[in-house]
Amino acid sequence: AVSALALLATATIASADPTKCDPGEMVIKFSFVTNMDKHPKGIAAALFAKRVNEEMDGKACVELFPNSTLYNDDQVLEAMLQGDVQMAAPSLSKFETFTKVYRIFDLPFMFKNMEAVDEFQNSPVGQKMKDAMVRRGLQGLDFWHSGLKQFSANKPLILPSDAKGLKFRVQPSDVLIAQMKALGASPQPMAFSEVYGALQTGVVDGQENTWSNIYGQKFYEVQDGTTETNHGLLDYMVVTSVDWWQSLDPAVRDQLKSILDGVTKERNAAINDVEAQSRQAILDAGGVIRELTPEQRQQWVDVMKPVWAQFTDDVGQENIDAAQAINA
Ligand code: LMR
Repeated sequence: AVSALALLATATIASADPTKCDPGEMVIKFSFVTNMDKHPKGIAAALFAKRVNEEMDGKACVELFPNSTLYNDDQVLEAMLQGDVQMAAPSLSKFETFTKVYRIFDLPFMFKNMEAVDEFQNSPVGQKMKDAMVRRGLQGLDFWHSGLKQFSANKPLILPSDAKGLKFRVQPSDVLIAQMKALGASPQPMAFSEVYGALQTGVVDGQENTWSNIYGQKFYEVQDGTTETNHGLLDYMVVTSVDWWQSLDPAVRDQLKSILDGVTKERNAAINDVEAQSRQAILDAGGVIRELTPEQRQQWVDVMKPVWAQFTDDVGQENIDAAQAINA
């Protein structure tokens, strides 16, 4: 991207964009649904693009498409199989039609914090999960973090009974649908880009997401408040198509993977800080955050955790045991 030609052009034409790909460079389109500057996924994607465009200048060039501007998560994986986009990082809840093993990450209260998530994903069992979709044409490259999820609604949520009868937007995941049903709520699967409007117009009453999404999408503006439940995980798989990945020159593939691994390590290690900044930004903007006593939180655990039993066959009891051993 920053070839001598591009630098010359930048010097002479004030509006030239040094992040634009140069002729002859292989273009890697990377599509995602969050913002690029404050969200952990956007920050990681921007760092990946910067490093590739500098270190692989003349060979490869990453073009970023944030904020669902190219595809939403329902479309991006099909587009990837068609070769229309090369990289994406959908949440693990968005791979339902490709594999059921990621369901472990959606089960409520499975991981006690992000360190436990990290340890599980970096174990041999977690690393093997990157290959879970290969026979369906997708290659998982690395896990990226967002964080633990919180509930928000158009009324205060203190006890699980407060959620009863409310409509909650969920990602398209059978586990999340079952989780909301366990609360006596009505789950409404919906694309991420539509959630703000749906909350604002009352199509749904509430939603669950991380601090960075509640802040980044301004959900707090159209909700009574957010309750700090830390009840589930939102995490991503950086993914590409097997066809495209295998078509690369091995040296190019290795360099891309090594840059991606470096970015993953650096940004995943910063996740708690990035999420805490979004939490604080919600407060600074006048948003309401409610904390639960341990007794109150335990009531949410008691109502939601029985959902695990419905999905044990999909995720494997041994994997649940491994995750729980890490929590202990
Ligand atoms: C959602 O749909 O709520 C999330 O998967 C969005 C995201 O990518 O963080």
